[in-house]
Amino acid sequence: MSEITINYANMLSDKIGKEHGLTLDELKSLQPLAGKIHDLLKVKREKGELPFFDLPYQDITEILNYAGHVKDRFDNFVVLGIGGSALGTIALQTALNNSQYNLLSKSERKGCPRIFVADNIDPVQFAEMLSALDMDKTLFNVVTKSGSTAETMSQFMIVMDRLKKLKEDRWNENIVVTTDRTKGILRKIADEMGLKSFIVPDGVGGRFSVFTPVGLLPAAVAGIDIKGLLKGAASMDERCRKDSILDNPAYLYASLLYLSDTKKGKKIAVMIPYSYALKDISDWFRQLWAESLGKKYSLDGKIVNVGQTPVKSLGVTDQHSQIQLYVEGPFDKAVTFLKVEEFKSKVDIPTAFQDKKELSYLCGRSFNELINIEMEGTEYALTKNNRPNCTIVFPEASPSAIGQIMYMLEVSTAFAGGLYNIDPFDQPGVEEGKKYTVEALKKS
Ligand code: PA5
Repeated sequence: MSEITINYANMLSDKIGKEHGLTLDELKSLQPLAGKIHDLLKVKREKGELPFFDLPYQDITEILNYAGHVKDRFDNFVVLGIGGSALGTIALQTALNNSQYNLLSKSERKGCPRIFVADNIDPVQFAEMLSALDMDKTLFNVVTKSGSTAETMSQFMIVMDRLKKLKEDRWNENIVVTTDRTKGILRKIADEMGLKSFIVPDGVGGRFSVFTPVGLLPAAVAGIDIKGLLKGAASMDERCRKDSILDNPAYLYASLLYLSDTKKGKKIAVMIPYSYALKDISDWFRQLWAESLGKKYSLDGKIVNVGQTPVKSLGVTDQHSQIQLYVEGPFDKAVTFLKVEEFKSKVDIPTAFQDKKELSYLCGRSFNELINIEMEGTEYALTKNNRPNCTIVFPEASPSAIGQIMYMLEVSTAFAGGLYNIDPFDQPGVEEGKKYTVEALKKS
């Protein structure tokens, strides 16, 4: 199996100076704390308190069988969910399916349904999506761990109402629910109404749930190789069992970002894939890093207000939008490139203008070369201007590599929680907003 790797030379003081770059000693000085966090995570994992760690080893037979049934029966599959119930699915679809998947014919999609993710309650977008779909040929996957999120539950009510009008007592054939095993009103409704359901395992929070039916069911329905995905995650799990910062890719990545934030003032972590397939991995990571680490209280109850702001970007598009800021603006960013060595397709640039000296340098080259040379150009400009940057290298954007990166970033986030001394698994700030909405609607 080809492994993803991290090249972090440009985060170090040798390359970008001591003011902005880390010394190896600074990195190594984190090891005693890292060792303690490692032991704590290990004990919690063994006690079953952090079940996300063991998701690569689950039995996925039921998901695969059900996905087969969906393929025969439906043309469209719509996820109703938000936050951790949607972003993993979006990332998997963009990474591992054809970039124009929904435009392909059914046979080009190998019989699989089109995939939509409704992670907003914009009335225009939602109304237009529903009116564009043949409801009878559409399966709606209501995904909510808590079973009570206002956005998702109101979407569900709208869809249920439409289906009832169309299909009377057969409406529930078009709904599949992914929620908690016992808790939440959606679980109660699903049991009462006999809805097909999948379980979000106990103790796995939304943003750590991509390797549960939350992400795996829509992926399997779209024909994505979820076995390969989990194999990649399992291989990363092996690499993440080491306690040494320099040998454990998840700990290394978390330590680089944490030290850049706390020692060098890099309050912003930019992730910039030079691959369209990886575009939504940075969106998924944005939520994971922000919601897990942006916290008011430390584990010992002190007000700390920590967290690094994750920013998503895209190469080469943002070279013509953001890179000027990253190279010459405030010294407040650490940049992570995501680089793919072998793309799925090759696009050659014809030799059309060989005789024009302004364009001849492009003739006979390929987009594959150009995109990576442009990435090197950005890396060079950042490094020359003393801006910390590292590169996560993907031999290819395969199911295994996507499994590796997503698992690695989950472990990085859990570990970074220890470094910041906060709880990375709660989200009291989000809950506060959710509570306000419920109260405001009840009062008005
Ligand atoms: O990561 C999280 O826990 C959140 O982003 C949730 O996924 C999000 O708030 C949606 O919650 P639920 O899945 O309960 O509907």
